Amino acid sequence: AEDGYDLWLRYHPVEAAYAAQYKPHATAIIGGDTPILASAKSELKRGLDGLLAQDTPIVSQPVDGAIVLQTGDTNLPEDGFRIGAKTLDGHPVTVISARTDQGALYGAFRLLREIQTRAALTDISDAPKIKLRVIDHWDNLNGSVERGYAGTSIFDWWRLPDLVDPRLTDYARAEASIGVNGVVLNNVNAKADSLTAPYLQKTEAIAKVFRPWGIKVYLSARWTAPIELGGLKTADPLDPAVQAWWNAKADEIYALIPDFGGFLVKANSEGEPGPGDYGRNHAQGANMLAAALKPHGGIVMWRAFVYSEHDANDRAKQAYNEFKPVEGQFADNVLLQIKNGAIDFQPREPFHPLFGAMPKTNEMLEVQITKEYLGQGTHLVYQGPLYEETLKADTYAEGKGSTVAKIIDGALDHHALTGMAGVSNVGDDRNWTGHDFSQADWYAFGRLAWDPDASSRDIATDWVKMTFSDDPAFVKPVVDMMMASRETAANYMTPLGLAHQMATGHHYGPGPWVCDLARPEWNPCYYAKADAKGIGFDRTKTGSDALAQYAPAAAKQWADPKRMDERYLLWFHHLPWDYKVKSGRTLWNELVTDYDIGAKQAAQMQQTWAAMKPYVDPERFAAVSANLSIQAREAKWWRDASIAYFQSKSGLPLPTGIAPPE
Ligand code: GCU
Repeated sequence: AEDGYDLWLRYHPVEAAYAAQYKPHATAIIGGDTPILASAKSELKRGLDGLLAQDTPIVSQPVDGAIVLQTGDTNLPEDGFRIGAKTLDGHPVTVISARTDQGALYGAFRLLREIQTRAALTDISDAPKIKLRVIDHWDNLNGSVERGYAGTSIFDWWRLPDLVDPRLTDYARAEASIGVNGVVLNNVNAKADSLTAPYLQKTEAIAKVFRPWGIKVYLSARWTAPIELGGLKTADPLDPAVQAWWNAKADEIYALIPDFGGFLVKANSEGEPGPGDYGRNHAQGANMLAAALKPHGGIVMWRAFVYSEHDANDRAKQAYNEFKPVEGQFADNVLLQIKNGAIDFQPREPFHPLFGAMPKTNEMLEVQITKEYLGQGTHLVYQGPLYEETLKADTYAEGKGSTVAKIIDGALDHHALTGMAGVSNVGDDRNWTGHDFSQADWYAFGRLAWDPDASSRDIATDWVKMTFSDDPAFVKPVVDMMMASRETAANYMTPLGLAHQMATGHHYGPGPWVCDLARPEWNPCYYAKADAKGIGFDRTKTGSDALAQYAPAAAKQWADPKRMDERYLLWFHHLPWDYKVKSGRTLWNELVTDYDIGAKQAAQMQQTWAAMKPYVDPERFAAVSANLSIQAREAKWWRDASIAYFQSKSGLPLPTGIAPPE
């Protein structure tokens, strides 16, 4: 059945004419027998058998047209590959050459992608620009998933390690196909249990499945584990007993899992414990864990998402305030994992001010693949453009061209340890991600973590061809729809740089009126600051001055409301309702118009999709149609609720031609 289980690895037969061109170049598969090469060969066989409708033999001697996996090419970068025509023992063959087994595996997936997207036969060489390409699961040990909208966890901790779901192999294949080489198994809001011996056995069983696909496992570590599991009185990172506990824990983990990746840590944020509880700073905390992992080659991903009531004047400033002072103090096997924006995965945020602010620190980017604030499991919102917008953002940290991409790929400050993480949207739904189009966010994450300079439109195009159909009559309108969808959602949820207008807790529907929660920064009203006179969060000198956390040239682009990209307007400025925006409309009229446009665009997506019926299997066509009708209805809900609420503040009439909220 076409239930989406195969993701983009669908391998349905290509048209006869294209197959006829390719078949002479794919008669057999040759390669070594290491576990990773065995995966590469099995995937090639699976793919070629399906795509070319043949039974591809795996052979040991060169034959005409064989695809040959060759490793040990020291001219190539680690995990890179080259695909090209060669003659081997007198036989014309296609060689996938690589330095490492993993590079050969990526080359195999690339060759299959070429066929899936009907590319012309040409030489290709490619290599990942970022070293750690990591998926963070916010999965709890009881099977629930924090901010998960696609069923429960794919990790069945109860039955592990005895029962290992074969689905985990398909999961690993999918991750490897997009270049992911690390998976954090448990929620950042971690429980100490995951570090106990029984759970480490379970983790080892998962590591065994992932290893042949070039994927390392990581765990979120709970800061107070030495107290909760070790019976110590403290978790002070400078206490020798605490250090000894973590050293012994690391030894225990590596004895079981020699290629264990390391720890992800959320400390002193949203009530989680951390070194701050003992008067120590983030570097002291991270370095203690880093020292325990270092002898084994492990790393620490220390999150910069810190969020407490102490900086309530402007929550957006807190991370910079806490981390900038410890610049230069982190061990070399620590990465600071920074969300794309300073608040929390909003439909649109300016890039996080920590990017470029700590050149001596390994900085990695964290994006959310699961769509906590973007319509969750039901709205079609392709996040490729959002990720791309962050990666291409210029921090001006070292002059023009200091993009976030160049910071996280290490080019700007010559870091070797680089990374990008995505918070998973995978659950045990049959199609993995709930909404069929949410698979594209997962796919785009992997492709951008491999190449942060890639185009989200090109990625969407490949994904559409691989997942649905390569018919141009389908590809063009669907890719256009995907590319517009993020802007559409920003319009109906949070236009003009508004943020965090979602209802509290679940973050799904609108809640701009919520203003009575205990902590100021929990309230949507705190972010919009709408009153009878105007709207917006003043982050200039007259307000919180968060703007000053950016390099001067970056800050300059947002300092003057008259000369800025208005998609960030109310993020940085509080303006009167009658303020004139670039379109010539008043701010009030513009805001209302944007909500209205967003709702109309969402409704329009239904028409676009309806016309695609001839190209899609009935099952996925119907599922996407149903979700689009929910989205259209809810976009209108967002529009109506937001306009009605803000009108209760502004007291102004709606612009002509705009229907009153229902
Ligand atoms: C968001 C999210 C939480 C999550 C947190 C984090 O605030 O709502 O569920 O724990 O981010 O990234 O740590």
